[in-house]
Amino acid sequence: MISKDQVADILSFLQDPEYKQSFAELSFIRDVMVKENSVSVSLIATQTDEAYMQSLKDRATQALREAGAGEVRVRVRAITDFERAELAKRTGAGAGTSAAPTAAAPAVTNILAPESGVQFIAIASGKGGVGKSTVTVNLAVALARSGKKVGIIDADIYGFSIPDMLGIEERPEVVDQRIVPVERHGVKVISMGFFVEDNAPIIWRGPMLGKMLRNFFNEVEWGQLDYMLLDLPPGTGDVALDVHQMIPQSKEIIVTTPHATAAFVAARAGAMAVHTNHEILGVVENMAYYVNSNGEKDYVFGRGGGGKLAEELHTQLLAQIPLGAPDNHPSEPDYTPSVYKADTEQGRMYLEVAEAVIRKLEK
Ligand SMILES: Nc1ncnc2c1ncn2[C@@H]1O[C@H](COP(=O)(O)OP(=O)(O)OP(=O)(O)O)[C@@H](O)[C@H]1O
Ligand SMILES: [Mg+2]
Repeated sequence: MISKDQVADILSFLQDPEYKQSFAELSFIRDVMVKENSVSVSLIATQTDEAYMQSLKDRATQALREAGAGEVRVRVRAITDFERAELAKRTGAGAGTSAAPTAAAPAVTNILAPESGVQFIAIASGKGGVGKSTVTVNLAVALARSGKKVGIIDADIYGFSIPDMLGIEERPEVVDQRIVPVERHGVKVISMGFFVEDNAPIIWRGPMLGKMLRNFFNEVEWGQLDYMLLDLPPGTGDVALDVHQMIPQSKEIIVTTPHATAAFVAARAGAMAVHTNHEILGVVENMAYYVNSNGEKDYVFGRGGGGKLAEELHTQLLAQIPLGAPDNHPSEPDYTPSVYKADTEQGRMYLEVAEAVIRKLEK
């Protein structure tokens, strides 16, 4: 098995034709993931013609294979305007012909930079339909109700649902070529749903998808934020992995139902977090029980899944949220179908989760 550093060494022969520096110097080698018998890596291309990108991919793949990396996966993506601007800042000048436009680019705050102070929390689950998006919006609103500045990135590019859940019908505005998030209940929201016409299904190819996510970080005018919540697609697929690699500092909350199998599958999402060194803040057990007309708790989906999962992941069970839809009506101003009011049982529970998160992250 080769190390991450070795990957950089092996690829040190790659030179960028425009900046005339090595890929290592330019930090054009990204997302290096080394496993037992496989290596995956992303490379940045300053020239976006297919021939160049393909040759870059081929040369890197060959070099890594020859070095004994095993299965090799190289992704090549185009440099963003933001990255050009960053490079221009670093080197004091741009390279060649591209210098002029970048110099004029507006100063942008990179919320991924540690000094931005933004705490990232990814909401993950093993399987779909357990309430990940519901937990995301309600935790975001609870954090905002606790006085925090909060954003949501709906990274569930296959099944984006956050705009609907928050009753958002408008699209974000573009000001000075920056996308302005839509705001509800003090939470700033960006969703893939904003950029897809008429809910048309789209087959997102891996590279496209990563690029889209990166745009959400770089080209959106988030302003000052304390917390950024990410609603991930269910499971442990490529997107979840991409997000893990893109935001190494992200913390994680795992959502499960009390059912044993759900908790079992959720453990996989937890294992992925552990494997990629993401701290798990806790488990939220959703649909934990139903309060029947006699005021008794019916455990309709079984019992104990959340507690067992938390134990397995050596983390805390943050809440057991009962079944029950929010009592909201479309005639209300600022109607949000999926947000529990602050003075309901669920609303109070989410406030407690928010407080627990704040305690953990602001100690
Ligand atoms: N505690 C709850 N009580 C009643 N209904 C709930 C509860 N939590 C979630 N739901 C409902 O269950 C459905 C699934 O929830 P949600 O969309 O949040 O799950 P998800 O894990 O994000 O699903 P997906 O995998 O499709 O993204 C939604 O219709 C939601 O309104
Ligand atoms: Mg969802």
